[in-house]
Amino acid sequence: MSALDSQRRVVSGMRPNGRLHLGHYHGVLKNWIRVQHEYDCFFCISDWHALSTDYEASAGIAQHVMDMAVDWLAAGISPSSATLFVQSQVQEHAEMHLLLSMICPLGWLERMPSYRDLQHDLQHTDQNSYGFLGYPLLQAADILLYRAGLVPVGGDQVSHVEFARDIARRFNHLYGREPDFEVKAEAAIRKLGRKTSKLYVSLRKAYQEQGDLEALNTARAVVKEQQTITLGDQERLYGYLEGSGRLLLPEPRELLSDNPRLAGLDGERMGKSVNNAIFLRDTAEEVEEKVRRMPTDPARVRREDPGEPTRCPVWHMHRAHSGEDVCRWAEQGCRSAGIGCLQCNTPLIDAIKAELAPLQERALDYEQNPDLVRSILAEGADRARDEARETLADVRRAVGLNYR
Ligand code: TRP
Ligand code: SF4
Repeated sequence: MSALDSQRRVVSGMRPNGRLHLGHYHGVLKNWIRVQHEYDCFFCISDWHALSTDYEASAGIAQHVMDMAVDWLAAGISPSSATLFVQSQVQEHAEMHLLLSMICPLGWLERMPSYRDLQHDLQHTDQNSYGFLGYPLLQAADILLYRAGLVPVGGDQVSHVEFARDIARRFNHLYGREPDFEVKAEAAIRKLGRKTSKLYVSLRKAYQEQGDLEALNTARAVVKEQQTITLGDQERLYGYLEGSGRLLLPEPRELLSDNPRLAGLDGERMGKSVNNAIFLRDTAEEVEEKVRRMPTDPARVRREDPGEPTRCPVWHMHRAHSGEDVCRWAEQGCRSAGIGCLQCNTPLIDAIKAELAPLQERALDYEQNPDLVRSILAEGADRARDEARETLADVRRAVGLNYR
């Protein structure tokens, strides 16, 4: 797969550790659903990642995996557009992780914000395992194994994508280097013909000196079009655009969703604690009860006290789920004390129920047909494995593990 094709390749994943909530849906899944039609997508249920923190409760992981698959499918991830699979069913991830572990400086892992934070949060459990430290590297393996150019994630995962980029760069630097790479790359440029080589040189300069990504993409497209040069030269020209060696593993970038992070029921971030989240498969009664229990602007002690919606979690929920006019109605009614909080809640409850209804209908179909879900995952793993094997063969060869 060439560097240009990698720009069409998307990989993302989630750690199965419970049912998904509206925060996952708005923050990540909607982004996946959008990109699945435009890109070649691989979505991974990363059960090994779950094991890195939940190794003592590992008996629950199989159920979490099933729940996650059902939630994804119900949300609208389509197996005919995207490849859905379980990480541990594609063992190539383990070999990729192993080979990358050889070149991964320990300090890079110890510095990861996720390592420091989680270690702090999880102090009551024992989080000093090798697997836990290596979590971002396993994630880098997930991404690089498919030579993904783009990784749609929530903001909390950006440092992990950056880390994968650093690992790719280091791998390319170590194993993509030929002793006389620059001489060969310059010779390859001359083979492009006068006009094209001039274009290549100026695009490369624009990218390297100004970080112009469009120039980089145009240059890749120019290289891809070349029919007369060898594959080796093509790889050198791709690699020369970005650095000092052949491009073995393209460097991935994050694709952030433009939805703001959804606040939870208590106004804090929507997390997985039951009281703070509305789950995709909560019943209508549960939704109603949870919204009714939400805190509101503390200034509204009595019904006649005016409030300030921006201080109210219910209002933030309205903004994510209700239409323009309902939002305006709530805002005005709150500030003028024209409506009470109970009244204000009602259209929000209706909006959430309406949003979840079609999704829950699909979820029910899949829940009643677990064999279908299993076969979707098995097919996904087959497709993923085919891709993974190709990359791994190149990686082994680059490292020098080719015994033929
Ligand atoms: N670490 C990610 C999370 O906690 C899950 C994940 C695993 C992932 N593999 C990935 C995300 C590959 C993007 C790409 O949500
Ligand atoms: Fe919140 Fe609505 Fe009550 Fe205002 S009226 S405090 S926005 S619930």
